[in-house]
Amino acid sequence: HAADAHRTDLMTITRFVLNEQTKHPESRGDFSILLSHIVLGCKFVCTAVNKGEDQKKLDVLSNEVFIKALVSSGRTCILVSEEDEEATFVEPANRGKYCVVFDPLDGSSNIDCGVSIGTIFGIYMIKDGHEPTLDDVLQPGMNMLAAGYCMYGSSCTLVLSTGSGVNGFTLDPSLGEFILTHPDIKIPKKGKIYSVNEGNAKNWDGPTSKYVQSCKYPADGSSPKSLRYIGSMVADVHRTLLYGGIFLYPGDKKSPNGKLRVLYEVFPMSFLMEQAGGQAFTGKQRVQFLRILSALDLVPEKIHERSPIFLGSYDDVEEIKKLYAAEE
Ligand code: AHG
Ligand code: MN
Ligand code: MN
Ligand code: MN
Repeated sequence: HAADAHRTDLMTITRFVLNEQTKHPESRGDFSILLSHIVLGCKFVCTAVNKGEDQKKLDVLSNEVFIKALVSSGRTCILVSEEDEEATFVEPANRGKYCVVFDPLDGSSNIDCGVSIGTIFGIYMIKDGHEPTLDDVLQPGMNMLAAGYCMYGSSCTLVLSTGSGVNGFTLDPSLGEFILTHPDIKIPKKGKIYSVNEGNAKNWDGPTSKYVQSCKYPADGSSPKSLRYIGSMVADVHRTLLYGGIFLYPGDKKSPNGKLRVLYEVFPMSFLMEQAGGQAFTGKQRVQFLRILSALDLVPEKIHERSPIFLGSYDDVEEIKKLYAAEE
């Protein structure tokens, strides 16, 4: 019967990526093998989180499992983790052509109270066949081949883009497989939610203050936006992606570059937002040649560098870009 056919035609993340990779014959399946090792790490963390491991242990455990899974994939040459001060250079015998930047456990301060947390990752191709150096990971986000996050909440959801749109997969614990549940995610052009830690308002700069004020007291008399802030970037970004609106972690007087890290928080989430029809802006890049640069145009100089970030629905981000451009 048609219903059964649908039920037995399992679109797992592995099958989905294999289909996508037919567009990149040169990758010879390497990317699919890399992704399957990232997925393995996510399944491990999902189990550990649900077992209720405590925060400290989980931070270390998740970092170790991702490093080991990525090295053992034989498809990576440089790994940058939020948890490791130095980059990991894979030994020559086990080296591949991909560089992976990741935050193994994002929102970890929320673990002990059961709020959703996640893993965030981005994938670059090594620049060219030379000995891998840090330059291979200090690339603008525009050069990322793929990016994604896994959210460990009431269910385990993996959201991924390999450069042609965004797709969401939910872990089916009975199968141990991520199944396609959110095909071709597009963020609403405009939203009714803003997401920021209002506790930092005292130190915000002019454009950020004006923008948040306009969310609460719209000049055109439209209804105010709602404030939703979970404090886990993965959860706040996932809600923004599905419901629309804007997520912002601005710079301020105390931390001019904000709090979020460029390589494994700002870039992957900005990549996903642009792929879903939204946009991402850092507020630090000035209007150049009448074009305000995307957050993905940023060229990082240090692997743990931070940047302010404003990302989400196209029209909402446009508003704050205008306020920063007026500051010129
Ligand atoms: P991490 O747990 O990986 O250090 O990241 C925490 C980040 C991010 O998840 C979230 O958006 C932000 O911290 C919240 O910061 P504030 O508590 O300053 O709002
Ligand atoms: Mn983080
Ligand atoms: Mn983290
Ligand atoms: Mn941290």
